[in-house]
Amino acid sequence: MSEPAPIALSTVLLIGCGRMGGALLSGWLERDLADRYVVVEPAAGLRPATVSPHVAFVDAPEHLDPKLKPDVAVIAVKPQVMAEALPHYRPMAKAGTLFLSIAAGRTLVFMAGLLGADAALVRAMPNTPASIGHGISVLCANAKVDAAGRGRADALLSAVGQVAWIEDEALMDAVTAVSGSGPAYVFLLIECLTKAGVEAGLPDALAEKLARATVAGSGELARVSPQSAGALREAVTSPGGTTRAALDVLMAKNGLEPLLRRAVLAATKRSKELAG
Ligand SMILES: NC(=O)c1ccc[n+]([C@@H]2O[C@H](COP(=O)([O-])OP(=O)(O)OC[C@H]3O[C@@H](n4cnc5c(N)ncnc54)[C@H](OP(=O)(O)O)[C@@H]3O)[C@@H](O)[C@H]2O)c1
Repeated sequence: MSEPAPIALSTVLLIGCGRMGGALLSGWLERDLADRYVVVEPAAGLRPATVSPHVAFVDAPEHLDPKLKPDVAVIAVKPQVMAEALPHYRPMAKAGTLFLSIAAGRTLVFMAGLLGADAALVRAMPNTPASIGHGISVLCANAKVDAAGRGRADALLSAVGQVAWIEDEALMDAVTAVSGSGPAYVFLLIECLTKAGVEAGLPDALAEKLARATVAGSGELARVSPQSAGALREAVTSPGGTTRAALDVLMAKNGLEPLLRRAVLAATKRSKELAG
C-alpha cells in the first residue's frame, strides 16, 4: 500500500489557546506540521508553548494581519463564547479557510450560521488524554469540505492521538458520552479501586499507587494488544480463582455493564439537551 501524501500546511490559525488549544499547539510543534501558527488568545503571552519562532500570538482578531489567509483555523474556545468570537472570521471562511472546531455540542449548522453557509467546516470531539498525545478525536465534516480539507483536519488532530471519522453528525452525542466524557469514568475507576483497596486493608498511598498503575498498565496493554478486551480479561481469569470471584460481582445482572450503559445513556441525553 502506498503511503498517504504528506499534508502541507502553510499557516494554521488557532483561536483560543487554553488547555485543549495549548495541547494541540504543542502536538503540532512537536510534529512540525505547519510552517507557522498564529494564535488568537486574550491571555496571549501567559500561555505555555509561546517560545517557538514559528508561533505568533495576538490578543484579539482585530490585531491579525488583514491579509492573513490560513489553510485551517482551529476553534478551541469554550462553546459559550463561539457566538461572539466567530463572526470576526467570516471573511476568512469566505476566502476558503477550513474551520475545525473542537467545541463540545456546537453543531455544523450552528457554526455555518456564524461563519457563512459556504464555510468548509469540520466538527471534532477530542478528549483530555490529547494533552499527552494519547487522545482520540472523532471528526465530522460538512459538504463543503473536500478530501484535502479532511486530510488537513485529520493531520491536525492526529498530532495529539488517534482519529476516527463519522458521516452522521447525530452520533456526536454518543461519541461525547463514550470518549469525550470517558476519561472521567476511568479516573473514577481509579478512585473506587483505591477506596476498595484501603477497605481491604492497604495503606492509602499504596492502594492509590496500585489502582493508578493497574488502570494505566491495563489500558496500555489493551492499546497495544491485538487481542480483544474480552480475551485479555479471560487470560487473567482462572476458574475458581480470585479474579473470577471479583468478576462474579462485577458481571452480575446489576453489575458494571448495566451501570455503565445507564451512565452513557445519561451523558448522551445531556449532550443532546446542551446542543439544544
Ligand atoms: N478540555 C476537554 O476535556 C475538552 C474535550 C473536548 C472538547 N473540548 C473543547 O475544547 C474547547 C476548549 O476547552 P478548554 O478546556 O481548552 O477551555 P479553556 O482552557 O478555557 O480554553 C479556552 C481558551 O480560549 C480563550 N478565549 C476566550 N475567548 C476567546 C476569543 N474570543 N478568542 C480567542 N480565544 C478566546 C480563553 O481565554 P480566557 O481564559 O482568557 O478567557 C482560553 O484560554 C471547548 O470548546 C471544549 O468544549 C474540551
